[in-house]
Amino acid sequence: MSTAQPGRVLVMGAGSVGCFVGGRLAASGADVCFVGRPRVLGALREHGLHLTDLDGGDVRVAASALRLLPAPEGPAGLVLLCVKSGASAGAARELAACLPAGTPVLSLQNGVANADVGAQAAPALQWLPGMVPFNIAELAPGHYHRGTAGTLAAQEHPALAPWLPVFERAGLPLKLHAALAPVQWGKLLLNLNNPVNALSGRPLKAQLLDRHYRRVLAALQEEGLQALRAAGIRPAAVAGVSPRLLPTLLRLPTWAFRLLARRMLRIDEQARSSMADDLEQGRVTEIDALCGAVVRLARAQGVDAPLNARMMSLLAARTAGAMSGRSMRRALGL
Ligand SMILES: NC(=O)c1ccc[n+]([C@@H]2O[C@H](COP(=O)([O-])OP(=O)(O)OC[C@H]3O[C@@H](n4cnc5c(N)ncnc54)[C@H](OP(=O)(O)O)[C@@H]3O)[C@@H](O)[C@H]2O)c1
Repeated sequence: MSTAQPGRVLVMGAGSVGCFVGGRLAASGADVCFVGRPRVLGALREHGLHLTDLDGGDVRVAASALRLLPAPEGPAGLVLLCVKSGASAGAARELAACLPAGTPVLSLQNGVANADVGAQAAPALQWLPGMVPFNIAELAPGHYHRGTAGTLAAQEHPALAPWLPVFERAGLPLKLHAALAPVQWGKLLLNLNNPVNALSGRPLKAQLLDRHYRRVLAALQEEGLQALRAAGIRPAAVAGVSPRLLPTLLRLPTWAFRLLARRMLRIDEQARSSMADDLEQGRVTEIDALCGAVVRLARAQGVDAPLNARMMSLLAARTAGAMSGRSMRRALGL
């Protein structure tokens, strides 16, 4: 395997995903710059990076070894776009102002439209969609923890080929797909749990072990599946279960769900959706990139997605979550 580095990696948006993925790359010897907000950069300056995972991984990068920037600077061999969906267009414009045309930008965001949003705002850059299947939480300043498992994915493109060994060395192999949309939609169907989790106010595992919440998620996914069927998109299995079987699995009694969904339940006890943090801290959530995407896809196909639309209203009306599964079902008419 070649050890040459095909340029510098610029992490645009040093938060949970950016610090974890960029940090693992830096720990394995890649040249990485982190562009972030003062709160995060200050913590990295003080504590360095500490990266742990549910498989016992424990890696540190000293503060003195981190390259931290308040705004992007070129050139870069690869940009990892790690901001929340609502910040994509702004970040894209900042990148376009300082990077040479053709610089590859890999979106490591949820949702299905961020690379397109980037391409609209900054058409000279090479936009590539990617997918992060696992959950990352900031446990303490500078300490990021991967709480679930899975393999990074990206759209196949010649610009990514030289980076594959770099990701491999970092212990984060990047799987390339001829078409990423089915993978992104497969992930989006799982992410429909984010608003359920945010409104529940519970850790992910405890929330998934409540059948009422699972029934809500199953119904949201079924609407998504219906819209995808109408659009001729076959979502990929991201959690090891066929997306078409997921609603049935979710609706099982909890004892059976525990038995059959072991992989899905391989989650740290305290892990929760970052939408829960966004809701709690009054930040803009990614609900429009998730339920909103289902509603838009459905409309484009002449079908309806009223439950996803209702979920958007429920989230908009809440400032913090502590909604029981039973009341969530009632609120959605389920
Ligand atoms: N966390 C996860 O477990 C996970 C897993 C898979 C995928 N994802 C997806 O990955 C994306 C990032 O999520 P995340 O949890 O890593 O978000 P995050 O922790 O909020 O990190 C994003 C960071 O980027 C900063 N930022 C935004 N615009 C910026 C700009 N122009 N320049 C510099 N910094 C900027 C944000 O600051 P402000 O908030 O102050 O703007 C924030 O600190 C989302 O699409 C998410 O859905 C997350």
